[in-house]
Amino acid sequence: MEKKDLDWSGLGFGYVKTDKRYVSNFKNGAWDEGVLTDDADIVMNECACVLQYAQTCFEGLKAYTTEDGRTVCFRPDLNAARMYDTALRLEMPPFPKDRFIDAVKQVVKANEAWVPPYGSGATLYLRPYLFGINPVIGVKPADEYQFRIFATPVGPYFKGGAKPLTLCVSDFDRAAPHGTGHIKAGLNYAMSLHPIVEAHKAGFAENMYLDAATRTKVEETGGANFIFVTKDNKVVTPKSNSILPSITRRSLMYVAKEYLGLEAEEREVSFEEVKDFAECGLCGTAAVISPVGKIVDHGTEICFPSGMEEMGPTTKKLYDTLTGIQMGRLDPPEGWIVEI
Ligand code: PLP
Ligand code: COI
Repeated sequence: MEKKDLDWSGLGFGYVKTDKRYVSNFKNGAWDEGVLTDDADIVMNECACVLQYAQTCFEGLKAYTTEDGRTVCFRPDLNAARMYDTALRLEMPPFPKDRFIDAVKQVVKANEAWVPPYGSGATLYLRPYLFGINPVIGVKPADEYQFRIFATPVGPYFKGGAKPLTLCVSDFDRAAPHGTGHIKAGLNYAMSLHPIVEAHKAGFAENMYLDAATRTKVEETGGANFIFVTKDNKVVTPKSNSILPSITRRSLMYVAKEYLGLEAEEREVSFEEVKDFAECGLCGTAAVISPVGKIVDHGTEICFPSGMEEMGPTTKKLYDTLTGIQMGRLDPPEGWIVEI
């Protein structure tokens, strides 16, 4: 397969139009059979439910070229399941999980020339999404929906790659206790746009959101979960009903225990104890594992001992093991790697 002539190593996290995308329409109570199309534009009515009431959700996963030249995806079944749960919460017809995985395979195969080469540092990011498309003016769910997947080659989510980030504690809340923080609804990201613009203006890479009810517990950032490492080398990740159940985080907890022999616990993390951790990182499909060097809470700095130059040693081991599995350098747990 001849690859496209791109500066793969120079890619940031942006949209590049690729050759094919998948589309399936839901009408009269059923999904059609779905097709691949060249057309990247969507035409819809001015009163489409997605435009008026933000009835939309999405997923994110990646395709990789392995060391031995195979094209693979990482745990697409978990994205299919999460989108299913998200759709139910938003009163949308869920896209069948087996068809989701089949559509992912079709899109990767049709855009194989866009899957970045092994060792380039880039990957093919897949963006499945689902939205209400027919006109709705009273507040209610749509009757007609579109499910799509496009692909775009991407580099690191945060500029500077593996350099530790500086975050700030946000004055805004990301999700209410009984709200939509645990699903991948577009509306969660819409509300984070103002806080992220403010954070960037102030020189921070991301926001640390605290729990909305008490503002004493760590939740997540706008686009990734947290992992911490204690001074006695335990991996800790916040447990909360209002954060997204990150597939990367769930995978890392397994990797920590089963590949690295570390203790790993998912539990409530109070903001008070953050200053006592040895390492901190953000994890997600886009973020992979991005190290955090400093968190600023209204002028008070929390500086992690791992510093501002390099990933902490345990974060690095987690990173190397996870990416080793994704890139085919290490044997994966059963079912984690799906060959295209
Ligand atoms: N949290 C939020 C708010 C996200 O947008 C994402 C990205 O998908 C994550 C966490 C990480 O989830 P995953 O590892 O499944 O990509
Ligand atoms: C992902 O990691 O796939 C996400 O959806 C996060 C987003 C901030 C790009």
